[in-house]
This record gives sequence, structure tokens and C-alpha cells, in this order.
Amino acid sequence: MLYIGVDLGTSAVKLLLMAADGKIEKVVSKEYPLCFPHPGWSEQNPEDWWEAVTEGLKELTADCDKSQVAGIGFGGQMHGLVILDEKDEVIRPAILWNDGRTTKETDYLNQVIGKENLSKYTANIAFAGFTAPKILWVKENEPENFAKIRKIMLPKDYIAYRLSGTFCTDVSDASGMLLFDVEHKRWSEEMMEICGVAREQLAEIYESADVVGTLKPEIAALTGLPESVKVIAGAGDNAAAAVGTGTVGDGRCNISLGTSGTIFISSDKFGVDGNNALHAFDHADGHYHLMGCMLSAASCNKWWMEDIVGTSDYGKEQEDIHGLGENTVYFLPYLMGERSPLNDPYARGTFIGLTMDSTRADMTQAVLEGVAFAIRDSFEVARSLGIHIERSKICGGGAKSPLWRKIIANVLNIKIDRIESEEGPGYGGAMLAAVGCGEYASVEEAAGKLVKIIDTIEPEPELAAKYEEKYRKFAKIYPTVKELFRQL
Ligand code: XUL
Repeated sequence: MLYIGVDLGTSAVKLLLMAADGKIEKVVSKEYPLCFPHPGWSEQNPEDWWEAVTEGLKELTADCDKSQVAGIGFGGQMHGLVILDEKDEVIRPAILWNDGRTTKETDYLNQVIGKENLSKYTANIAFAGFTAPKILWVKENEPENFAKIRKIMLPKDYIAYRLSGTFCTDVSDASGMLLFDVEHKRWSEEMMEICGVAREQLAEIYESADVVGTLKPEIAALTGLPESVKVIAGAGDNAAAAVGTGTVGDGRCNISLGTSGTIFISSDKFGVDGNNALHAFDHADGHYHLMGCMLSAASCNKWWMEDIVGTSDYGKEQEDIHGLGENTVYFLPYLMGERSPLNDPYARGTFIGLTMDSTRADMTQAVLEGVAFAIRDSFEVARSLGIHIERSKICGGGAKSPLWRKIIANVLNIKIDRIESEEGPGYGGAMLAAVGCGEYASVEEAAGKLVKIIDTIEPEPELAAKYEEKYRKFAKIYPTVKELFRQL
């Protein structure tokens, strides 16, 4: 049988066709616009996702035996607020995970409701990108829209709804709404009350590999796929990427260098970081995970390469980089503010340490290193909790760069394992579909059988020592300029 993984990302949707033995038969990518209507705001039109997904499904399955397609699973950009009215129409553009408009609502939740209470109700505190503060923002700023809300959805769940007609979400993605009791896997009564949300406005909860329904007849007709195709709940993109890289079970780590940058640590047991700097969420394997999320990772390099330097040949720019560990230029990668571990929507991108002999290559290097240092910030939080990480998988667009992988391995001073499929969330979505359709007994079994390590980057002691020193310097920059960012 064949399984489809849909990675509903921020810049594009990637669809992947996987055979039962894990072989990737085809990958299709469709871009859609991302709007920044005000500085720090970030929105997308759910109709654009839908068009891209349906067009993508047609293209993906154009040459295959469609009767063999058994299931569709998802990895979706997390936290986005999609609201539907009584006619199931989208009320306003989706407010995305990297949107920073909710400072007031986030402060209200963290300070008035209180971090301790939030953590008791949901295992997490409020961050600007989470869904609950966005609901409060709509309530305060767009009361006419708030009054129309009948359904509150996350991005991938909107697609599952249109494909199957089931109003559903999964535990990993629900975890990022701040409306969900992560430990007990149920909606939080307290948070619903705080946000003025009724139970019927929220979806049914599923485990990530559960079947939520089958294709609606009109969607089967539209895509040419059989009505029997099962729609699987899927997972937030980070949990899906973790499945796709085999980061399941206890104590495994995955780093994702996508638009966002995340460090994801799987765990058999529920646990919370006492300071809530790392998110405590449910995992798609039925257990839990901790995660640090930086808002701009590969997107910093994309911005630097395409918008500033004016090239799309990233590899060629990186050829001029020599002298790892010697760079005196530093870059703070906070182009959209920062989530983990700073929780500061006012933080901004910064180059510092430039001299007359600084080169374009030094600045490119600083961007790659700045992202690695910012990931190290979350890594340090994990370490402070007694979590020992000696190796990690890596995925996402940025992970395609051998140089960036080497920088990450040495800045974190850990081994980095590359796996055969770099399609983290899409592959994970297809694996979840295979589990949901009974091809594999569990997510762990699928990961054990399908995910293969092809290469390991070892840290080099001399370089890791140089980066240790550089990281100490990097760590001093943000606290020094933090107050200034608020004035900017
Ligand atoms: C995770 C997060 C991002 C998005 C990116 O908390 O906000 O990784 O899921 O799509």
C-alpha cells in the first residue's frame, strides 16, 4: 500500500508518497504567501493551504495506482489560530506560530493568571505565538470576529476537516494551544473559561496515529483518490519530524533547522521544566517531549542570502567560509523576536563585532553560528534539568548544509546523526498514516524499521573548545542589549 505525508509548513506544503517499506516514491512542494501586515505579525490564508494541498495531492498521485493509497497523515505548523463561523467559513486570516502581536495578552496570562497556574492547568506558560493569547487578542481587538467563532482549529486540522469532515486535533498539536492539559490529554476547563471558549468550539482529541475518518466523496472526486483513503490525525510538525527521524521512545533528541529551529527531546514520562523555558508537550508516539523553539533559524540564512546578499546559491556562499571558530562577528538571530528560552517578542536581529576587514563570508558564517548558539541556549536549559544528550538527529532545510551540520555538532559538542530521509515532518506524517492503517503495530515499530542513519558528524575537540569560548561571548550579547530592543 501507499501512504501520503502532508507537511503543512510556513513557506510551502510538502507532500510525500511513501511505500509500505518506507521508500519515498515522490515528493511535491507547493509554495504559498506569508504576510506580515505589521512588524512582528505573521498571517496566512487557510484557503491558500487548501488549494496547495489539493493541487499537491493531484500531482503527487498522478502516476501511481491510486487504489493503492491507503492513508494520509500530517505534520503541521503548530499554534496557528484558524477560526470558522457557523457556515464553516474562515473568519479571518490565520495568525501563525511566529506572530508576536499578543504581548499584552501573554503578559496578562503570565502575570495576572500567573505562570504557576498556567503550568498547573497546561504544563506550559504563555508565549506570544501560542494559540490561547491569540484568542484573547481576537476577543479584545476584533469582538465582531470573536462573536462569530464556532470552531477553533490548528492549521493541519483545518485540512483534515476539509478532507474528512471530522473536527479533530491530535495530542501533540493541541499541546501548543495553552488550552490543553498535556499531562492528562484533555482540554483544560480553567483555560477554556479564561479564554471565553466553550467545549463545542474545540475539536475532538486523538492520538497522532489514530484514524479520524475517510475522504469525503466530493474530495475523492476532486483528487481522484478512492473514498476509502483514511485520514489520520497526524501531529504538530516537530512531533511529526521526530517520528520521521526516529526520535521516539525515551531520551532521544532531534534538531530541526526549518523556518523555526527546534530541539526536541522525547521522554517516556511526563515532565516539566521548572522554569517553563522549554515546552512540555505530548509526543506523537503516545508519550511526551520537551522542546525549545527559536522563531528564526533557516529563515535567518534565507533572509541573509536572498533578501540581503541577493543570491539563491547558499552552497557557493558557504564555500568562502574558512576558519571555523575564529570569527569575531556575531549575529543575534531574533528576526521575529524570540521564543525559547528568552520569551521576548521585542528581541531583534543584530550583527555585532564588525571591523573594516570583516567580509561577507564572515557575516554569512556569523548567521549560521548565531542560529547554532541560540539552539545551544535551549540545549543548556535541557542540561540544567539533568538531561544528558550525547547525540542528536537533524532535519529541516538548513540540515542540508554540511557546513551548518558541522557547526551545530561543534557548538553543541555532540554527535549529529544524519538519516536517509531528510523530509522530517512529511516522512513522519506518512509513517503515522502507515501506523494508523495497520501497516505497523506502533510508531516505535515503524521508526525502528524505517529510519536509517547514514552518517554521523563527530565534534572535533579543538573546534568544540573554540566554540565553547565563542558561545560564552555570544551569551553576553543579548542581556547587554535587551533593554535597548524595547526602546527600538
Ligand atoms: C513550535 C513552533 C514551530 C512551528 C513551525 O513550537 O512554533 O516549530 O511549529 O512550523
